[in-house]
Amino acid sequence: MTPLVIVGCGGHGRETLTIARAVVAAGGPRWQLAGFVDDRPSEENLKRVQRLDVPYLGGVAWLRDAPPETHHVIGIGDPRVRRSVAARVDAYGVPAASLVHPDATIGPDNRYGPGFVAFAGARVTMNVAIGRHVHLNQNATVGHDSSLADFVSVNPLAAVSGDCHCAEGVLIGTTAAVLQGLRVGRDSTVGAGACVVRDVPDRVVVKGVPAR
Ligand SMILES: CC(C)(COP(=O)(O)OP(=O)(O)OC[C@H]1O[C@@H](n2cnc3c(N)ncnc32)[C@H](O)[C@@H]1OP(=O)(O)O)[C@@H](O)C(=O)NCCC(=O)NCCS
Repeated sequence: MTPLVIVGCGGHGRETLTIARAVVAAGGPRWQLAGFVDDRPSEENLKRVQRLDVPYLGGVAWLRDAPPETHHVIGIGDPRVRRSVAARVDAYGVPAASLVHPDATIGPDNRYGPGFVAFAGARVTMNVAIGRHVHLNQNATVGHDSSLADFVSVNPLAAVSGDCHCAEGVLIGTTAAVLQGLRVGRDSTVGAGACVVRDVPDRVVVKGVPAR
């Protein structure tokens, strides 16, 4: 069994734990859930973690002296926060695990980097290039020939159509749609429920239908 540490005691981190458990229960990689690390967990989240029968190990720096073979997954929903945490953990030399829920569908000819997390119901069709620490939340879909660069988050029920490119650090909000062939620029956010009908520049927030 390979020890797995989840970074982040918040809701996204605890949901990530359930994915790891589902992977193991389905006969996938045999992760041993070593615990959570978090620099500033709230009292409430510590109690929630306790109810999951998985220990809270300490701050992120706990990973610096982690036992050999330990892997981590970053259970933080915000792409930009995830990126800064990843930089710290990379410096400790602890490899990232990828978790694909057994009820997610990753079709043929797709590629994904370390730290990829696919929640239940996520669907990726084919020829999609997915970078490091990309998170596809519940029932998010990604169409053919698209690319999701490092640290992209696609929130629940959002749809990235075919031939789209989401640059590094992009957040696609819950139930948003990105129409085919479009590019969403680096560190931009597409608001919940938005419909993106033209390219989105770098570092902006767009919302509404059509998204502006
Ligand atoms: C678009 C978004 C990034 C804006 O965040 P923000 O800058 O903090 O915006 P505020 O909450 O201050 O709202 C600013 C204005 O935008 C409106 N607004 C906020 N989100 C909106 C959305 N998704 N669509 C349309 N209008 C929205 C607000 O009503 C407010 O309007 P007003 O100025 O007329 O009162 C955010 O609301 C959002 O949709 N994030 C995605 C969240 C998500 O996917 N959550 C799921 C987690 S699993």
